[in-house]
Amino acid sequence: MPDRKPPTIGVRENGPLVARNIASMRDGEGRDIATKPIMALCRCGHSANKPFCDGTHNKIGFDSRPGTPAGPDRLFEYAGREVTVTYNARLCSHAARCAALAPQVFDPAQKPWVQPDKGSPGEIRAVVAACPSGALALAGPQHLFAERAEITVEKHGPYWVEGPQVEAPPPGKGATAGKVVLCRCGLSGNKPYCDGSHREAGWKDGS
Ligand code: SF4
Ligand code: FES
Repeated sequence: MPDRKPPTIGVRENGPLVARNIASMRDGEGRDIATKPIMALCRCGHSANKPFCDGTHNKIGFDSRPGTPAGPDRLFEYAGREVTVTYNARLCSHAARCAALAPQVFDPAQKPWVQPDKGSPGEIRAVVAACPSGALALAGPQHLFAERAEITVEKHGPYWVEGPQVEAPPPGKGATAGKVVLCRCGLSGNKPYCDGSHREAGWKDGS
């Protein structure tokens, strides 16, 4: 069997993402989406055939230049007795996986918002792996992975990419090339990466 070509995601100026050699793509509910060797994926937020591009970016004059990214590009460290967690707000897509999985550790209402000693090391490792953006890591930074599809299309949110190489500079300090979140709404200030603007704007898949 011939070796599989490496999966990549290219970024077309004022146009879609171009995904090549993707082995697996799923929607936010875990259902498979059939892949092709080359796929144009919507990133203007307005295709009628999401997640695929239907050319609408041309009609609406989509401008893919990044604006002002949300969140500082700063790597914070939260030290616990056994585990130290790092976090960069610039990378965070606000998927809130962390707060859902271990609310006693990751709680935006407490100060500091990450308190590793309120959870077990195993619990914290599971959260760091589940974080789709790589905003959370263990000190190093050491990233952990969830072994999900190469592209997961979050409902009303970004593409979660785990594995494929994205042809763009990294989104911020402490980022890993192994997992990133890519903007699907067209509103991010840190394109092609998601900066959580979809949530702020209340962007929906039906847009
Ligand atoms: S991207 Fe990571 S750090 Fe940000 S809210 Fe989601 S799980 Fe938490
Ligand atoms: S999908 Fe566009 S900012 Fe998150």
